[in-house]
Formats: sequence, structure tokens, C-alpha cells
Amino acid sequence: MDRPIGVIDSGVGGLTVAKEIMRQLPKETIYYVGDTSRCPYGSRPKEEVIAFTWQMVHFLLKKQIKMLVIACNTATAFALEEIQAKIEIPVVGVVHPGARSALKNTQNISIGVIGTKGTIESKVYERALRSINNEVEIYSKACEPFVPLVERNCLTGDYARSIVQQSLAHFQETSIDTLILGCTHYPLLQPLIQEVIGEDVTVISSGDETAREVSAILYHHELLQTDDVQPNHFFYTTGSRALFSQIANNWFGTPLHNIIEIVL
Ligand code: DGL
Repeated sequence: MDRPIGVIDSGVGGLTVAKEIMRQLPKETIYYVGDTSRCPYGSRPKEEVIAFTWQMVHFLLKKQIKMLVIACNTATAFALEEIQAKIEIPVVGVVHPGARSALKNTQNISIGVIGTKGTIESKVYERALRSINNEVEIYSKACEPFVPLVERNCLTGDYARSIVQQSLAHFQETSIDTLILGCTHYPLLQPLIQEVIGEDVTVISSGDETAREVSAILYHHELLQTDDVQPNHFFYTTGSRALFSQIANNWFGTPLHNIIEIVL
């Protein structure tokens, strides 16, 4: 079906999920909204995150999206169920795919989760992991400084490394063999996170499994784009187009077209 998939996040983080969807479903068109001007969501009250998330959803519904991906863990934690209940199109979040992926990987069922304050305090990962396996041992840590690093495109260097080291010191005394990046911004810091946490720990981001879920749902609802058309993606940001383009172009390794500033 020739309608776009909507992908939303508080900023550039959801691009990590959008890229996987584009890789696994190359015929599909993505309409992305990043609420960069109000990022981070992770330290905001639940009601505010829900209200901002609805603004992005309404913007995309006017563009006739056929499916919505909430590519933000914080918004997934606070708003997924409400949005699923109230709109007609299929809606997926990123928490269950990340949890599934981690459980598939872990050998000692000892899993670390890092995310925003909102995500970690909501205990959404504990619920998702335990709904699948009650035996799982979970160690969680909110890493509040990570999102501002990513939004400033500060992904390497001594300053970024020291922030990552301080936050991940929490896991030193644990036996985790798997670490869930429970915030879609964090894959942009993945090389640094992997270096600091060590090669023995598998770092999991939810993009891959979320894209698989999107694919399965589109197939199930007979919504897949089957025609051979060249998709024309759009990227909307409430913040600076220049900074968004810089981060997005680096992440995709190619210049993206149709990056547009909007007001929600
Ligand atoms: N990328 C987001 C997440 O997955 C939100 C980060 C933020 O705005 O705090 O939680």
C-alpha cells in the first residue's frame, strides 16, 4: 500500500530505528518527526510527554500514515497503550522488541538496561522482560547526560567517554552479559558504550527487532508496499534543520533529502 509509515521521537534518536526500517523494508516510505526543540523528554512529567507525543501523532495522521512507530522509549513507556487504544492504524513501540532481543541473546539471564529517567522509573523494561521470563535478573540505570550529548553531536572524545564511564560504572559489580540500550538515542553512542562496558557484554538496540515487528504487522494487515517505487522519505524537526541534518547525514552515511522544520 502506497502510504507512509510514521516514525516519531523526541529528537534524532528515532533515526536509529528509521534506518533499520529503511534497510529491512526498502520499498516503504518513512515520514519521521523529531521534536528536537523540546528534547529531552526523559526528564519531563508523564502528562507532558503524552501531550507532546499526541501532537506528533496528529501531525502524521494528517499525512495519511498507514502505521505508527513510537521510536522513543520514554514515549512508549508513557503513551503507547493510550495511542494504540485511540487510533485506527497499527502502532508499535520499541520496548518489547528490545526486551525480546535481549532475552534471545542472554546466556545467564542477567540483563542491564539503560535509558532515560522516565523510562527507567516507569519500570517498563522490567515488566516487558518478566512478561516473557520471570527468572530474569535486571539491573537498571538512568543515564540522563547521554541524550544531550547525542543531540549536540558529541559522540566521541574524552568528554563523551568520561560521561559514559561514570554512568556505566553502575554495572561493574554485576554479571550482566547483555545490555539493552533502552533509549533510541543511545545507539549513536554505541561504539563508546561497547568500549566502556567491554566485549563480553552484548549491547542490544531495539531498531533491528522493531523493524522486524513492523514488517510482520504490515504483512499481517496487508499493508506492505509491493510496487517497485522509489520511496520519498520526509524528516520533520521542530528544532534546527542544520544540526538535525548533520547528525542524520552522519548516521545514514549519505545526505538525506526533505529535512523540514515544523512547529507542532
Ligand atoms: N529517544 C528517546 C528514548 O528512546 C528519548 C530521549 C529523551 O528525549 O529524553 O527514550
